[in-house]
Amino acid sequence: MIIKSLQLHNFKSHPKSKIEFPAGISIIMGENGAGKSSILEAVSFALFKSYSARNLPSLIKTGEKKLRVVLKFLVNGKTYRVTRERSKSASRAVLEQEDRDGFHQIATGDKVVSTEIESLLEMDSSLFLNAVYIRQGEIADLIDKKPSEKKQLIGKLLGIESLENAWKNMVPLIGHYSSEEQFLKGKMESKETWEKKLADKMEEKNKRDVFIGELNQEIEAIHQEIEQLKTDKEKLDEKKLEYREIKSSLDSLENILKGLKEDKDSLKKDLSRIKEDESKISKLETEILPLSNLVLLQKGLNNLDKYHQTEKQILSNLKKVNDLNQVLVSNKMFQEEYHNIEKKIESLLKDKEKFEGTPAIIRSLISDKDKTKQEIGQLNQQISETFSYYNQILESNLDSAEEIDSLHRKLEIALNHKLNLLDQELQDKKGTLLSLKNQNQQLKKPLEELKEVEDKCPICQSDISKSKKTELVTIYQHDITSNKMQMVALEESIEKLDNEKEELQKRKNSFQKINMDILQEKIKARNTASHKMSNLEMKLEDLKIQNIALEEIESSIKSKKSRLKEIENHKENYFKAKHSLENLDPVATLEKEKNSLVEKIIEEDSRIKELLSSLELDYFRQFKEDYSLLDSDILQEEIDKREEFKNNLNQLKGRVSQKNSISEKLQKKKLDLEENMKNKESLHSSLIKIEYDAIAHQKILQAYEQKKDSFIELTSQKSKNEGIQGMTISAIEDLQKDLDSLKDVEKELDNLKDFIKVLDYIRKLFGKDGVQKDLRNRSRPLIQEEARKFFDRFNFEYSDISLDEDYEVEVFGPGGKTTLDMISGGEKIAVALALRLAITRVLSGGKLELIMLDEPTIHLDSYRRQELIDILKRLSVLPQMIIVTHDSDLEEAADNIIKVKKEEGESRVILDVAQEEVPVI
Ligand SMILES: Nc1ncnc2c1ncn2[C@@H]1O[C@H](COP(=O)(O)OP(=O)(O)OP(=O)(O)O)[C@@H](O)[C@H]1O
Ligand SMILES: [Mg+2]
Repeated sequence: MIIKSLQLHNFKSHPKSKIEFPAGISIIMGENGAGKSSILEAVSFALFKSYSARNLPSLIKTGEKKLRVVLKFLVNGKTYRVTRERSKSASRAVLEQEDRDGFHQIATGDKVVSTEIESLLEMDSSLFLNAVYIRQGEIADLIDKKPSEKKQLIGKLLGIESLENAWKNMVPLIGHYSSEEQFLKGKMESKETWEKKLADKMEEKNKRDVFIGELNQEIEAIHQEIEQLKTDKEKLDEKKLEYREIKSSLDSLENILKGLKEDKDSLKKDLSRIKEDESKISKLETEILPLSNLVLLQKGLNNLDKYHQTEKQILSNLKKVNDLNQVLVSNKMFQEEYHNIEKKIESLLKDKEKFEGTPAIIRSLISDKDKTKQEIGQLNQQISETFSYYNQILESNLDSAEEIDSLHRKLEIALNHKLNLLDQELQDKKGTLLSLKNQNQQLKKPLEELKEVEDKCPICQSDISKSKKTELVTIYQHDITSNKMQMVALEESIEKLDNEKEELQKRKNSFQKINMDILQEKIKARNTASHKMSNLEMKLEDLKIQNIALEEIESSIKSKKSRLKEIENHKENYFKAKHSLENLDPVATLEKEKNSLVEKIIEEDSRIKELLSSLELDYFRQFKEDYSLLDSDILQEEIDKREEFKNNLNQLKGRVSQKNSISEKLQKKKLDLEENMKNKESLHSSLIKIEYDAIAHQKILQAYEQKKDSFIELTSQKSKNEGIQGMTISAIEDLQKDLDSLKDVEKELDNLKDFIKVLDYIRKLFGKDGVQKDLRNRSRPLIQEEARKFFDRFNFEYSDISLDEDYEVEVFGPGGKTTLDMISGGEKIAVALALRLAITRVLSGGKLELIMLDEPTIHLDSYRRQELIDILKRLSVLPQMIIVTHDSDLEEAADNIIKVKKEEGESRVILDVAQEEVPVI
């Protein structure tokens, strides 16, 4: 990396500084505190945001809010620009790369920009702070560090650290591949098992192939047997069918014969029963002869019963009608009275309606009257109180408002007049008093002056004698005294008048309290109330008369209502009887009905008697004159009995009527029987001809079924075995595939083993005893040699320096080998510088292109400083070197001088190009 330019805004003491850095040695010069170190800090800050151990906010210039640093730098031929800003609460960073069109952004954000720069420079901030930027006072750090730290630092500078990291980082890598190897080895372990399994499966397959062959043979043999049995069976099946057909015809014929026999027997039975019935019929016919007359008798008796009942009903109705008519006659009068009273009450209620509101009006008028009376009382009280109050004021004893009013007016006029006179007198007296006071005042002045002067008149300045003076004094004094006396008399009289006026004023004030309007108002109100009262009384009188009429109506209604109650029963009886009569026939109709009924009864009676004498049954004959004791139940029994006979007779007649048709049927059945017997014999002989053996048939059937079962069993066994065989074959195929895939694994495992060997080898190479040791051992003598050369240039009394394996420095002086603790501060700096420059030179073949040194000459005397300058001048190890110093001697070595000055607390940069023009990159 080469630094091209740096801009500082409000960075520490720099308000606004811009510095261009050409290649070669740039010396930044200035007084203590000028702001030199700040420039290097700004470079470090711009690149990595870190510059020293101090905290960041102190970087912002005092009194400012925000700092900005812009650094342009060159890496691998490309220009980059990093900008960082920082305020107390926020920070911003941008990294840009320059191309033909200018700069374009490649990263933003503090962290991202730092990481991006680290990868560009192939250097992190700590390496930068150790190898590139040697801070003020830290120059001797390298040799002052503890051996382990020093080794680490030099390791870092030599790049050994990354080898160490690689050595460490390879452990998990190798571990990863080892576990992969273990995994593959595990896979390979299955190979043997799988091969054994494959052999087993193959053997199993072959065995099953033999078994399936045997099964096939057995199946074929059974198949042939089944075919033979099938033909035998089919022949027998046919015979059986034929046999069955004839047999079933024979069976059905047998059934027909049986039926015919049964029919013949039952027909015979029917014929013998008909003969029995024929003898029964003649008997029954004599039994049912009286039935019709018995029925007629029962009907006649029933009719008679009904007629008697109807007659009874008519008679009772006749009685009811007569009774009700009697009730009507006896209650008609009351019913009419009731009706009239109701009408009267109705008209009275109408009259009453007219006076309905009277009591309420009377009540309200009475309450009005009470209120008005109370009001009048209150007003009278107030009026009499007002009268006595006004009389008290006027000192009178009047009881008429008009008299009080006129007296009040008169007295008020007199009082006002008196007050006016008094006021006048008071004004006069007060005026006189005032003029007397003035007179005395005027008289006092010449009197005073007269007392003072000897012989001159104080007024006219004329000469006066002593006696004249005494005289004048006496006159003046006399006048004053006489005035004073008058004044006293006047004051007394004024006081008296004031009192008198006050009294009159009081009286006037009390007069003002008399207000006739209010009194008149009250009197008027009292009169109105009295008028209202007499009106109310008049109205009440009228209403009271109305009330009496109302009371009379009410009492009349009451007495009428009580009469209604008394005759209410009669009225109701009347209406009930009337209503009942409306539902009954009139007397004439009832009489007519009764007469016709009597006729019917006579007719029926003679008919019954006739029937009884004609009946040839003993029980009934005895009642031929008087049948009142005839038992109707016995009559019913006789009828029922004969009705049953009648039914039986009809049944018997029905059966006997079938006699001829049954005889014909019997004849026909006999013929049928004969014919069917013949058929039966012929069928029987053909059945014997067939010669069917059912037992032999059964045996063949059984054998056939057994063979078929065995066939099914064997074929199912075969298909089961074929299924298992299929599975075995696919298992064999799977195993072969697995074994094939293991071949790939075997190959992969071999490769992996080789790879791990290589990795182990590489790791050993990166290890402490590998390249690291070699690098350290090889660079150590080189660094030592370079350091010796630089050290030699300083020309100390120490002639040589050497580095041991841990880079511990030893110097050789007159007293022989010694350690750094023994040498002076300046010598230590020289050794450190020589060592730092030597490392830089050795590494110059690497990435280091820049070194920044802050005050490297401190502790060196002028001779050594000169030597350092010479070294630096000729030190073309690095393309760019930036040195901060306040040592003007170093100017000599510079290609470019940057002067920093501080004025009024602010740093400014003054560019001063050295003797030789160095081209700007
Ligand atoms: N935040 C800040 N604001 C303003 N000024 C600051 C701030 N921080 C430090 N300074 C001033 O900057 C100056 C330090 O600058 P720097 O360290 O660069 O000086 P120098 O030139 O290196 O001095 P020396 O030769 O003594 O090392 C001091 O004067 C310090 O007071
Ligand atoms: Mg400094």
